[in-house]
Amino acid sequence: MHTGKRNAFFIHTFGCQMNQADSGIISALLQEEGYIQAEHELDAGIVLLNTCAVRENAVDRVEHFLQHLQGRKKREKELIVGVAGCIPQYKREEMFSLYPAIDFLAGPDTYRTIPKLVEQVRRGGKLSSLEFNSEETYEGVEPVRNGVTSAFVPVMRGCNNRCAYCVVPFTRGRERSQPFTSVLREVEKLVSMGYREITLLGQNVNSYCDLEKGCDFSALLDAVSREAPLARIRFTTSHPKDISESLVRTIASRPNICNALHLPVQSGSSKMLGRMNRGHTIDEYMEKIALIRSLLPDVALSTDIIAGFCGEQEEDHQASLDLLDNVRFDSAYMFFYSARPGTLAAETFDDDVPESVKKRRLQEIIDLQNHISAELFQKAIGTAVEVLAESESRRSPEQLMGRTAGNRAVVFDRELYQPGDLLHVMITGATSATLTGRPVP
Ligand code: SAH
Ligand code: SF4
Ligand code: F3S
Repeated sequence: MHTGKRNAFFIHTFGCQMNQADSGIISALLQEEGYIQAEHELDAGIVLLNTCAVRENAVDRVEHFLQHLQGRKKREKELIVGVAGCIPQYKREEMFSLYPAIDFLAGPDTYRTIPKLVEQVRRGGKLSSLEFNSEETYEGVEPVRNGVTSAFVPVMRGCNNRCAYCVVPFTRGRERSQPFTSVLREVEKLVSMGYREITLLGQNVNSYCDLEKGCDFSALLDAVSREAPLARIRFTTSHPKDISESLVRTIASRPNICNALHLPVQSGSSKMLGRMNRGHTIDEYMEKIALIRSLLPDVALSTDIIAGFCGEQEEDHQASLDLLDNVRFDSAYMFFYSARPGTLAAETFDDDVPESVKKRRLQEIIDLQNHISAELFQKAIGTAVEVLAESESRRSPEQLMGRTAGNRAVVFDRELYQPGDLLHVMITGATSATLTGRPVP
């Protein structure tokens, strides 16, 4: 292998937005040590998979990549394969015996060790670095960002909740926050670089807590929106139980904070929510929705929902469908329950909903939500919406893709616009996932 390739790395990223942000951090850490980011995996002598463990199919996808890399290793003896993120933190050293392609493992709190791991692997052996470090926020690392329009800023990491089905507390450890001043410094920098959209990230972003300034995500959001007055500000993910009136008032009072909230509900049945250990009932969830809509009449709401959790009866499933009908979310991420060994649910409840039933219920949820999204999107036809252009459309270089403040994707005629432009688009067509239109002068 020639030196250029030997020192070139490529990262495949799976999972949530936090993982996308983390891949930027890993890239920065490797580049600081002189490694170079390759355009294509095949040009890289170091391949990293930054992984997600949240559902079994996320793990299956990574397995598929590891098989491909095992094939590459047969031909390229010097190839180094590292697995980072949530799967190694969850499955630990067992990974080495399961997947012989792997040379090293690093967890979400040990990305700083990755350059050293690469060096040590070159000298021989397999290595892992999987300690939790509840102080690690990667403060001071300036992530490598791919886009020029939108930037993620992780403001808190980890999760202190114990939702019964979820591995995240096991993979990401305890909550910790980036200091207030450090977040603002990063935002200032992004503004000077011309970013037009900043998304504050956290597994539970409302649990943001700066010990000096007091534990208050609303205050951080307000300060960020003032620091970047010309950028759109978004944040995710909010736990329904932590939505406060002060947060909603902050969104209402600052024009550049998008009127959009992602508020995972998981189930429409309070019985299921209790079993899931979510810490609220459906009535309480609906009260939060009413509060949000009273202060933000045009808010775009989105959610996550799980079909077929342990013990779910037809009536619980019906309650989820009814909830979707009542709230009419703009969009939803919909999953069927996947038992994760080690979690409370896997240890205490039977995974008793047959897979065929889970899949049927999920399909009913998807069909209903697509119908609702399509109806809501149809209503936009004939109106002009403000769109931030993000990239060329996948279908044609003559068209751009952008998003509304409510996070709806819009594909429109390019004319002379560029990614990063904020413009008004007259909506002329809609599906359940995309709006189409043309710029209005
Ligand atoms: N608070 C987190 C949630 C991460 S997991 C955040 O930062 O976004 C994202 C979603 O995956 C959850 O809201 C839930 O709907 C789904 N999920 C988590 N564990 C699951 C499991 N075992 N089976 C199916 N879906 C699951
Ligand atoms: Fe998982 Fe619940 Fe924490 Fe979200 S709040 S990461 S669903 S344990
Ligand atoms: Fe997956 Fe880890 Fe994110 S389990 S959803 S990559 S926090």
